[in-house]
Amino acid sequence: MSELLKPLKIGNLEFESCLVQAALSGYSDWPMRQISREMKAAYTIHEVMLEKFVVVAGNGKRNQHHFKVTEDEHPVGAQLMGSEPEQFGPAATRLVESGFDLIDLNFACPAKKVSGRCRGGYLLSQPEVALEIVSQVRSILPENIPLTVKMRRAFDDTAESEDQFFEIFHGAFERGVAAITVHGRYVVQKYKGPSDWLFLQKLKKDHPTRTLLGSGDLFTASDCVDMLRITGMDGISIARGAIGNPWIFPQTLALLRGENMPEPPTVKEQKKIIQKHLNYCLQMYDPKKASTLMRKFGIYYSRLHPESERMKEKFIAVNSLEKFMTLLDECYSSEEAGCYPLFPEMNPLASRATDIAGLV
Ligand SMILES: Cc1cc2nc3c(=O)[nH]c(=O)nc-3n(C[C@H](O)[C@H](O)[C@H](O)COP(=O)(O)O)c2cc1C
Repeated sequence: MSELLKPLKIGNLEFESCLVQAALSGYSDWPMRQISREMKAAYTIHEVMLEKFVVVAGNGKRNQHHFKVTEDEHPVGAQLMGSEPEQFGPAATRLVESGFDLIDLNFACPAKKVSGRCRGGYLLSQPEVALEIVSQVRSILPENIPLTVKMRRAFDDTAESEDQFFEIFHGAFERGVAAITVHGRYVVQKYKGPSDWLFLQKLKKDHPTRTLLGSGDLFTASDCVDMLRITGMDGISIARGAIGNPWIFPQTLALLRGENMPEPPTVKEQKKIIQKHLNYCLQMYDPKKASTLMRKFGIYYSRLHPESERMKEKFIAVNSLEKFMTLLDECYSSEEAGCYPLFPEMNPLASRATDIAGLV
């Protein structure tokens, strides 16, 4: 397994491992990123931001969480999405001035309100605009800041769409992009059907010198190892699987080192991380927002609790910080063993063998 445990290099940035915490709208804020980094994510990416918002947003309290980067979380990336190429340069400059180490461009988001405004995944059908955005940002970024792109495998399954994917893929690298992350679904698929890991495998095989990361269906440590093994990608971008389960990073690293799957965190160990997550939220937001956010994360954390359904209900019922703390004290103080989260979704190529046997 050790050949899969390779360091990742993007531009002049060198990462300790190839496990990236994906950009996750509504989730990958500073608290989640801090937790992921402490749990050994190679780097993390802040949730996607609109280019126009970044240009005009004030420095007040309302927006500060979008621009906060701390000394201990480097390396950290920011991601931009939009439709107006000329706005991207100034937006990228502001993000670099805020302390982000890497800028990523989103040509992947499938949400209707995003495509409807000619942004995100829609741009996979507009190679000229997409490549103009790449050029604008690369020309304005300092040389030491890598530019990366997030794409889906194409807009849809037509031959024209495939050509457009490759026009952007090659054009982006020619314009100085350092790495591309590919989510193996079409934009029009949204989340239906599996991520096509065989497409990712062929892409890497055909472009061995390009730095490529894979995305899609990384729910467990075993899935992460399988994607690396099957696709040969240089790195992987862990998304839904990392929400409320930052242990996916150390578990994957252990498997990549050839060790057995670590035991799931005990209830008390979970409490320690949830409490830390809450403390980070309280450093960033007012108590009301912090408890609303932690309620959302708690629902995901509950999957690791031995009484996950009951815990989920309890998190759903939380409506104040006090109730959140009481829940933690009452339900998370035992030394009981935790569980691996169960995911009914599974990529057809994933084995899940490691989750059961602890062996790859
Ligand atoms: C709630 C949610 C928010 C997301 N936000 C972003 C985002 O801000 N930027 C991005 O590039 N992808 C975003 N994605 C896509 C993920 O990064 C990832 O590509 C996708 O979920 C497939 O990976 P998975 O199946 O392992 O979750 C988001 C996905 C989800 C579920």
